Amino acid sequence: MRLQPDFIHEFVPGNSDRTLLLLHGTGGNERDLIPLGRQLDPRAALLSPRGKVLENGMPRFFRRLAEGVFDLEDLKKRTNELADFVAAAAQHYGFAGDKVVAVGYSNGANIAASMLLLRPEVLSAAILFRAMVPLVPDTQPNLSSVRVWISAGTNDPIIPASETKRLAEISRNAGADVTMRYFPAGHELTPPDVEGAREWLMTLE
Ligand code: MLT
Repeated sequence: MRLQPDFIHEFVPGNSDRTLLLLHGTGGNERDLIPLGRQLDPRAALLSPRGKVLENGMPRFFRRLAEGVFDLEDLKKRTNELADFVAAAAQHYGFAGDKVVAVGYSNGANIAASMLLLRPEVLSAAILFRAMVPLVPDTQPNLSSVRVWISAGTNDPIIPASETKRLAEISRNAGADVTMRYFPAGHELTPPDVEGAREWLMTLE
């Protein structure tokens, strides 16, 4: 039976009721973040889709007009499609749809943030590495039962610190419990990011 909607994806069963939804950065694929997922939680199931948009051959989760300038109609459409995919995958693989934690890096963190803002019922928590504000929703979501970890690099040439701060504020205003951490790094993911997120994840139910 095919998933509807479907993405090229990897699914790795776990032995806890948590599933990590792994969302790669521009130019990545469904295999990239599997080792990161295992590092963050050795017991969780892992669901890792490949973004469907190609930018010069590089997979992404939504279209952009320029660096940091997003095609908002495309972003909304693809956010809904990804949220529907997660719900369909929960049925298909039999994992708990209310224990899904997004783990996104860069473009993957941006679509995870977009899901939080547009389809908050799909995620119980989110780890956002190098994220920005993907869009400002017309209606404020209720994120009062959602926990969010955001980490930024203080020397990130792609994402200004003010953007990440604004994302934390929007999420907090919607009721989310947000942990915001800055690391002396650029756009790349560093071991302290991963270690910080791993420790934070251990504190969740
Ligand atoms: C995006 O397009 O989502 C951001 O600019 C991050 C990236 O380069 O992927």
